[in-house]
Amino acid sequence: MTSHSVLKPQPRPEILAIDPYVPGKSRVPGVARVHKLSSNESPLGPSPRAVEAVRALAGSLELYPDGASTALREAIGRRYGLDPARIICGNGSDELLALLAHVFLHPGDEGLYSQYGFLTYPICIRAAGGVPVVASETDKTANVDALLAKVTARTKIVYLANPNNPTGTYIPFSEVKRLHASLPKHTLLVIDAAYAEYVNRNDYAAGLELASSAENVVMTRTFSKIHGLAGLRIGWAYGSAHVLDALNRVRGPFNLNGAAQAAGVASLEDVAHIEGAIAHNAVWLPWLAEEAAKLGIEVTPSVGNFLLLTFPKDRGRTASDADAFLTARGFILRALAAYGLPESLRLTVGDEEANRGVVAALAEFIRGKSD
Ligand SMILES: Cc1ncc(COP(=O)(O)O)c(C=O)c1O
Repeated sequence: MTSHSVLKPQPRPEILAIDPYVPGKSRVPGVARVHKLSSNESPLGPSPRAVEAVRALAGSLELYPDGASTALREAIGRRYGLDPARIICGNGSDELLALLAHVFLHPGDEGLYSQYGFLTYPICIRAAGGVPVVASETDKTANVDALLAKVTARTKIVYLANPNNPTGTYIPFSEVKRLHASLPKHTLLVIDAAYAEYVNRNDYAAGLELASSAENVVMTRTFSKIHGLAGLRIGWAYGSAHVLDALNRVRGPFNLNGAAQAAGVASLEDVAHIEGAIAHNAVWLPWLAEEAAKLGIEVTPSVGNFLLLTFPKDRGRTASDADAFLTARGFILRALAAYGLPESLRLTVGDEEANRGVVAALAEFIRGKSD
């Protein structure tokens, strides 16, 4: 077929090989009271200061925002002791994860991630013309040796979510350093630390230290989780001047809207709100894990704000049966067939009412099915 006979614009073939990312459900037809526990959002919502900052901006919507997100980068720099020049803000960390693939993958290069890694990684890799390569996990946890075994001369980017979504598992910082130490210098290690604030383990670190010292490490973070600002789309990345320079050349000139920038600054200042969100999770994550385990559900140990629950394969007792049962009662969890985890559902920590309610509904499901 010559190009003249093609009757409509043709996307690159690798684009059509992408399965689009499907976000968590948020509505149940016919059910009035719905608890959305499917997208790892914060049950505490945003800081009131962030809400106020957005309101204050409503009078000047005709103005372009600061294209460099200067105040927000400076606020992040103050909060974490970082050089704002080495911070880039994104329209959600999603934007930055995608830009990294576009910038660092040449056509046919490989992008590596682990088996149950966050689903946008293969999308980012394919969209950039790269080849996704998957390393197997052990106990639903990234395995550094398995990742290293898949590294070839063509591996230009490695995505590691730590902790990982949807499993909730993490690897100690010593393991992240071991991974980095064995990667070629031309391979970029992207440490996606979207859930870092929730982790309370002594052997965990988000990756600032590595991203500060190594030329080939970038750490990404988000305001969508602990800050409760998913709707405004605010992410950021920290890395070497070399990496930042490339990203800044290709990002949209005004990629963060003004409301996002203002809310991000205000949220960082509200330390009590962030601590409240951490404290809430520290109470309810273990409570949900214990209650689910008491019901005989397999619970993967999680350090995030969500739990991976695995159900039996017997008819009537499966994850999809549980999903239908819970959804009909207004509890929306995340089905994970797209992750290769059809036997599991992901449950986000909610407010007290949602947490108690979902456990009661799970108990009803399990009892009803075993009687
Ligand atoms: C591991 C991980 N990385 C990145 C993101 C994207 O976050 P953002 O809302 O900043 O795009 C998510 C959101 O669910 C996530 O789970």
